[in-house]
Amino acid sequence: MNVLVIGNGGREHAIIAALAKSPMVRKMYCMKGNAGIAELAECVDVDYLNVKAVGDWLDTHEDVKYTVIAPDDPLALGLADELEKRGHRVFGPNKKAAEIESSKAFAKTLMKKYGIPTAKYETFDNYEKALEYVRGGKFPVVLKADGLALGKGVLICETLQQAEDGLKQIMLDKAFGSAGNKVVIEEFLTGKEFTPGEEVSVLTFTDGKTIVPMIASCDHKRAYDGDKGLNTGGMGTFTPCPFYTPEIADEVMERILLPTVRAMNAEGRPFKGVLYFGLMRTPEGMKVVEYNSRFGDPETQVVLPMLKTDLMEIFQAITDERLSEIKIEWEEGACVCVVLASGGYPQHYEKGKEIKVGDIDPDSMLYHAGTKRENGVLKTNGGRVLDVCAKGKTIEEARRKAYANVSKIYFEGMQYRKDIGIKYNAKG
Ligand code: AMP
Ligand code: GLY
Repeated sequence: MNVLVIGNGGREHAIIAALAKSPMVRKMYCMKGNAGIAELAECVDVDYLNVKAVGDWLDTHEDVKYTVIAPDDPLALGLADELEKRGHRVFGPNKKAAEIESSKAFAKTLMKKYGIPTAKYETFDNYEKALEYVRGGKFPVVLKADGLALGKGVLICETLQQAEDGLKQIMLDKAFGSAGNKVVIEEFLTGKEFTPGEEVSVLTFTDGKTIVPMIASCDHKRAYDGDKGLNTGGMGTFTPCPFYTPEIADEVMERILLPTVRAMNAEGRPFKGVLYFGLMRTPEGMKVVEYNSRFGDPETQVVLPMLKTDLMEIFQAITDERLSEIKIEWEEGACVCVVLASGGYPQHYEKGKEIKVGDIDPDSMLYHAGTKRENGVLKTNGGRVLDVCAKGKTIEEARRKAYANVSKIYFEGMQYRKDIGIKYNAKG
């Protein structure tokens, strides 16, 4: 079967690498892809945010029997709905189901209505009222732009001044565009002794009836070492998550995963695809920080290399709503991903820097996130550029291997964290 994957980044490269191992998959296309993906799939230069254009392309490529929609924005625009309407087989939730990510206000209301543990909150579409609310509240406080904002629309404000500035940025200056028409103002969740809570990303496969968690992973969201700097799309990940014991996983299944699937069904929005749970450990148990309607980036880059089951078989089972019939198996051990970003990311950065890659350990994975090839030369083409991933028996071993590869890669301004995996290792 020939397959189309929608998306451009390291996550899509990891999905394509996993699909390449499936005996069911013959040829792959990627819309739009990047220089690394181009080695495994034919890149198609169609704007995937133009749902009609994607539909038209598929209508004229009858050899393509399955489409995987990886990023959040085409899902939020209803690409799955459009393609299904035209009779194509698709992996990814429809627009109404994807709202669990594309509207934080919807997600919070859902959790409140169905008793799913999360931070207390209020929603505002009026700037003056939001301002009044933070002026009467506690600090730190968390401000979240309602809509999609590339993982950057969350501001943790320590002081009233920061909260006032943040509200202005989101609601008046529209720093995140129309995502900031509404704002969710949330209580700041903490772990024990008022340290920041420990977070875990639990990606799951679900067909709306059955939900199967993937191995848990941890994301380092802040730009700099020691969790300093701005939130980013993710600067590195690792699996397993040391604090995520089988007991906690059971608690999460009963109190969060199953109730969420049931809640979406009860709302007439059955979710089919990958449902991602961003969770935090608090003194009152695990709570939901965010939902995503898709594979995480860069969580996927450490999770999928550990998958033993054929990913295409899982996708097909989800489309056909027979996920319960499949056994999903994982390798033992650990995997670490270090993101190499352009200097300045997540704010202003330049593109088009030449990338030099030396001899990389052949057992490890180098996923391309933002790259392009120009006249044969590999160049940077985004904020996050490369994902350097390695497996090991332990996180420490995987870390050592990943950083050994990082030392063989260079581009001007290359920025990366040197502590991926360390913090949690010490605790775990
Ligand atoms: P989100 O995009 O919603 O995952 O938020 C990005 C990051 O902000 C999370 O991974 C947390 O580290 C932090 N965060 C979000 N909401 C809260 C909260 N209510 N309390 C504490 N930290 C939070
Ligand atoms: N790494 C966080 C996300 O994919 O949203």
